[in-house]
Amino acid sequence: MTTVPQCVTNLLKMAQIIGPEKLNLVVRSLDEGCVAGIPTETVYGLAARIDRPEGIEKIFRVKERPFFDPLIVHVASVAQAQSLVKVWPTEVDEVAKAFWPGPLTLVLPKTGDVSPWITSGLETVGIRWPKHELALEVLRKTGPLAAPSANKFGRTSPTTAAHVAAEFQQEDLLVLDGGPCEIGLESTVLGFDGDTFKIYRPGAVTEELLEGVLRQKGFTTKWVRESSVASPGHLQHHYMPTVPLVLLERDLDAELIQEIETRLAVTLKSPAELELGMEATLAARKLYEEMRQLVSLGSDLLYVVRRPEQKGGLWNAIWDRIERAATFTLR
Ligand code: TXA
Ligand code: MG
Repeated sequence: MTTVPQCVTNLLKMAQIIGPEKLNLVVRSLDEGCVAGIPTETVYGLAARIDRPEGIEKIFRVKERPFFDPLIVHVASVAQAQSLVKVWPTEVDEVAKAFWPGPLTLVLPKTGDVSPWITSGLETVGIRWPKHELALEVLRKTGPLAAPSANKFGRTSPTTAAHVAAEFQQEDLLVLDGGPCEIGLESTVLGFDGDTFKIYRPGAVTEELLEGVLRQKGFTTKWVRESSVASPGHLQHHYMPTVPLVLLERDLDAELIQEIETRLAVTLKSPAELELGMEATLAARKLYEEMRQLVSLGSDLLYVVRRPEQKGGLWNAIWDRIERAATFTLR
């Protein structure tokens, strides 16, 4: 058998290795302290073992991610999650039972075993049990994996293996192809501090769904929507495509075009509308893919028109990402 990893080689990356052999290579490269692209049901992640400091360091370097932005840890069971935190409150247990494996990251006080490099010095750690079968196969072999979305810092998250490969062309890393992501938006990030749940980042596990489960179990827990300060990576400008994106509250017309051109100091040649449709699940699934596609077709401006019916539930997460991806909003 070949002895490849040592953070792989471009040659190997190019080779069309698929199936179980590729999975085993990904596992080996992670065991050796490399990073690898892995599919999840939300977006693709750039993974490293939590007990390989060189892998964790490489995530930050490859992503060009500032060290103040903590990584989340992926696990393959509740027991594994519990081994990383100091407390496991009943409310959290109910939420985990209802939504794990799935698009929910739980933020809880960490044990000393979780390196401060992973949590950017915070005393809490975000943990997620993902649902994608390939991610789980890898996790069962490697143990917990730190994995942010597999994109350069501040940019659009990848929802296919090809997006990851394109984003990190210069790097020696393997990407496990698990097909297009089913959800297409990053997980809900939820904290619990003793009596209050905090949504640091909205996602497919919506406030309505969370409240429903807690109410059904008889909890009268308080809620707060946290600012980006508390979730350091969820900044005002994030998830951005490589050309400007503008959020409009009405259809594009000559007046709006002129206003956009003035604000951006450009003459627009081929603005393109990112149409979301009325079905939130589909809109979330195709959002990032469509952004990339319109850019690759040569559009010099993307715009989204917000329709009054597109609200509540998953739309909250969709608008959260679009507002952060947008250069500005025009009413
Ligand atoms: O769906 C997802 O969550 C994807 C897939 C790969 O699992 N991962 C992902 O990771 O989106 P990332 O690093 O791109 O986003 C994680 C978010 C960041 O905004 C980060 O600041 C926040 O979670 N976060 C991580 N640890 C935290 C903590 N201890 N307290 C508050 N926010 C935290
Ligand atoms: Mg991200």
